[in-house]
Amino acid sequence: MKVLILSFSANKVNEDSYIPNKKGLTFACVDECINELDKKNIQSKHICMNYKNIKKCMACGKRGWGICLEEHKCIIDDDFNEIYNIMKEYDGYIFITPVYFWEMSESAKTFFDRLKRCDAFNDNSKIKGKKFISIACAGGSGNGTENTLREFDTLNHFMNMDMIGRIPVTKFNFEEQKEKIRSCIHKF
Ligand SMILES: Cc1cc2nc3c(=O)[nH]c(=O)nc-3n(C[C@H](O)[C@H](O)[C@H](O)COP(=O)(O)O)c2cc1C
Repeated sequence: MKVLILSFSANKVNEDSYIPNKKGLTFACVDECINELDKKNIQSKHICMNYKNIKKCMACGKRGWGICLEEHKCIIDDDFNEIYNIMKEYDGYIFITPVYFWEMSESAKTFFDRLKRCDAFNDNSKIKGKKFISIACAGGSGNGTENTLREFDTLNHFMNMDMIGRIPVTKFNFEEQKEKIRSCIHKF
């Protein structure tokens, strides 16, 4: 079993001094996942997608589809195809995004837009059916975490994957939600 963690925040520092966690919440969740996967002897790799060059889908061809529909790759020359190929080598995934404006972050949207294009109608998909956990990291209010997790439900539907965990995390419930993260990882 090998698990790939894709995270979608570049924010390494938590500036709210009254919160014990000193990292950004997304990075803190990444750490929690890596620790738990290590404990279970599950091999893992983390990629922070904000450091990757992933442009928006151009809907480049006829009727709104490019070569993605038949060739299951993207025509844009950036880091997308590399990440898509790396995903195929893994047995499961953890997707961790901050909540921005009640939605997943821009880097997450941009990536998943293109992933759906390339893989949703791929009969030889190496991602279909694989397990994944989605984690939505919000601010104090937590408003928008459910909406963000619903976006992962949609991804799950179109990608025919197997979502084994959907975890809302806020600055204030992080300590409690660590237990939920751990229990979801046990389902891999
Ligand atoms: C542009 C922007 C929009 C945000 N929108 C929301 C929101 O809709 N709901 C919420 O609870 N927090 C919102 N927040 C707060 C972030 O979700 C929160 O700071 C979270 O910890 C971000 O993850 P990070 O710590 O990994 O950066 C927003 C923050 C930013 C920068």
